[in-house]
Amino acid sequence: MTVILGLLAVLAAAIAAVYLHDIRQRQHTILRNYPLIGHFRYFAETWGEYMRQYQYLPDWVERPFNRLDRAWVYRSAKGVSNLVSFGSQNTPTFVFRNAAFPVLDEDRSSFPGRQIGIAEGPGASAQPYLGRHVFNISGMSYGALSHAAVTALSRGAQQAGVWMATGEGGLSRYHLEGGADIVMQIGTAKYGVRDADGNLSEDKLREIAAHAQVRMFEVKLAQGAKPGKGGILPASKVTAEIAAIRGIPAGQPSISPNRHRDIGNVRELGNFVNRVRSVTGRPVGVKFVVGDPAFLDEWFADCIARPEGCPDYIAVDGGEGGTGAAPAPLADFVGLPITQALPMVAAARNRHGLKDRIRLIAAGKLITPDKVAWALCMGADFVVSARGFMFALGCIQAMKCGSGHCPAGVTASDPRLIAGLDPTDKAVRVARYAERVREDVEVIAHSCGLPSAAGFAPRHVTEIERGVGGFRSAAA
Ligand SMILES: Cc1cc2nc3c(=O)[nH]c(=O)nc-3n(C[C@H](O)[C@H](O)[C@H](O)COP(=O)(O)O)c2cc1C
Repeated sequence: MTVILGLLAVLAAAIAAVYLHDIRQRQHTILRNYPLIGHFRYFAETWGEYMRQYQYLPDWVERPFNRLDRAWVYRSAKGVSNLVSFGSQNTPTFVFRNAAFPVLDEDRSSFPGRQIGIAEGPGASAQPYLGRHVFNISGMSYGALSHAAVTALSRGAQQAGVWMATGEGGLSRYHLEGGADIVMQIGTAKYGVRDADGNLSEDKLREIAAHAQVRMFEVKLAQGAKPGKGGILPASKVTAEIAAIRGIPAGQPSISPNRHRDIGNVRELGNFVNRVRSVTGRPVGVKFVVGDPAFLDEWFADCIARPEGCPDYIAVDGGEGGTGAAPAPLADFVGLPITQALPMVAAARNRHGLKDRIRLIAAGKLITPDKVAWALCMGADFVVSARGFMFALGCIQAMKCGSGHCPAGVTASDPRLIAGLDPTDKAVRVARYAERVREDVEVIAHSCGLPSAAGFAPRHVTEIERGVGGFRSAAA
């Protein structure tokens, strides 16, 4: 009996020790938020690869992101090697055309950066922006993300030299905290830059532009997960702080109009871009989702006719984009995927002679270097990602963003769950991930015979399997 009691005491002490370790350590949010039982995740992750042939899902099956892609991000963010052994598990629909004579290590150069906005002429910005990194952080609002997540992204973006977009929820102190370059998004509700009636306020625009960190403004027409529908933040997430930032009442759902009320055609869009740029002195971009391609020609023709309303960049979001909350029919069935949208937009922009005027930014599950490099080949000047950076923050694809109960603290509103996400540790992961993407995109460029990723062109990629949603090549 004494022996059993002794063993039980040892067991209880061991459990208590593991519990204390879990809640005190700062590296693993899941363990801090779910002490003891959280170990099952790591056990399953570690041993899953040996068991998969019997019962686990194969690595390429999970959605929206399969484990191959997610694991690439997790390993990169943790600074763990991504070298593969034995062979590839991927079944690509496109490959890059390597050069017979790749660029020698000593002849490599780094991505020189690209200027967004022009300094002179109609449509000039007082402060054009030099984007230094090809891979940046796409807009996710404070409110959809927890303050710890926004803080970690801001610090990590600063460490890596990438920009970070606010999302439509306005500019918070957490965005500014890390010192990153910020893109202030203006969504359909104009959160953060609206007057009491919900109209664009030039005074508020000036206030935001007074922050030197705010380098660009972005007018959001639509995002891939819900084209034609505005942002949705449930009442439980609209705290007093979030309400104050957005300029709305606390404790009520934050539902944006499904369109900017003052932007109903390309002429009004040009007027809006011109107004924001004139007031702020910053480059102004437009984020949208491609549906009806006729819009592109109409828009670009208007840019030529009225260059003062021409955007400095367009951010194309694929229909596969993510969100905190969206109606399923829009998320599943509306908006062209980036694989079709990007080549279409690049072709239209170039056809109108606007290649050097309008920078092109692409997003839509472009979270690994192969997809980033594909987008650069297809004409993108930059790529942005939201969910790639969420994975770097520790997101486990629990698909609970809208509930406030994200187990990894990334989109949580429950303070207990948010406390598990340590912004200092996760900032390093964010920076490492951005850096690893940059390095591996460059590795692909060198293999293609290019000194840097700046030289990618359609001829460097080729489709190897056609089909709906397959990656296309202009030089198949
Ligand atoms: C949690 C979450 C919140 C988002 N919030 C916004 C937003 O406020 N404004 C916006 O334009 N896009 C928003 N997005 C969309 C992303 O910025 C991005 O365009 C889209 O997810 C595609 O990139 P990805 O596939 O790398 O995630 C959000 C996405 C997620 C996952």
